[in-house]
Amino acid sequence: MFTVGYFVGSLARASINRKLALALTRLAPPELALREIPIGDLPLYSYDYDADYPPPARALKDAIAAVDAVLFVTPEYNRSIPGALKNAIDWASRPWGKNSFTRKPSAVIGTSPGKIGTAVGQQHLRSIMAFCNSPLFNAIEAYIQFEPGLIGDDGEVTNKSTAEFLRNYLAEFHAYITRVYTALPRGGG
Ligand code: FNR
Repeated sequence: MFTVGYFVGSLARASINRKLALALTRLAPPELALREIPIGDLPLYSYDYDADYPPPARALKDAIAAVDAVLFVTPEYNRSIPGALKNAIDWASRPWGKNSFTRKPSAVIGTSPGKIGTAVGQQHLRSIMAFCNSPLFNAIEAYIQFEPGLIGDDGEVTNKSTAEFLRNYLAEFHAYITRVYTALPRGGG
């Protein structure tokens, strides 16, 4: 059993990526417990805070420390990741020497109405997480083109093959986390 903290890269109330995150919580295998790590209350990061992180930033770091892996469910903004998500990653990566992502497995997924389904933004995110020393789940890649009605407000995926794809994505992520912790025991090294 592993806990996975997920970040929703969008702050929008009607976020389609939040819908996708809800769908993923419904489709996750019983061995994965998904819970959100919120990023909406974080101030903009500056290293002036490094000596004394404000409560939302401390909560962020505590939340990441408490999970076995992280999952980014994010839109692509201007062919990259949203500023709010980058800000959260910057907070979590600091103070220097206390990077919360070190050896913490991560996965990336996202949805967009556009045909390339966040692919370019995900490549940026992979570069960032590689620098943050996170073991990255590389395959399966998941670029979800959103169409109206694809995911209901309750998180139900209406397209059967998409639901099956997402279920398989999570099963493979679970297998990947298992492999990472087989090579490196939790809390060790
Ligand atoms: C977008 N959108 C977008 N879509 C895309 O496929 N590639 C892109 O580079 C961008 N760039 C972009 C920039 C900004 C500032 C906005 C607001 C939007 C469209 C985007 O995919 C769409 O608004 C989604 O609904 C965003 O996901 P959330 O926020 O609804 O989860």
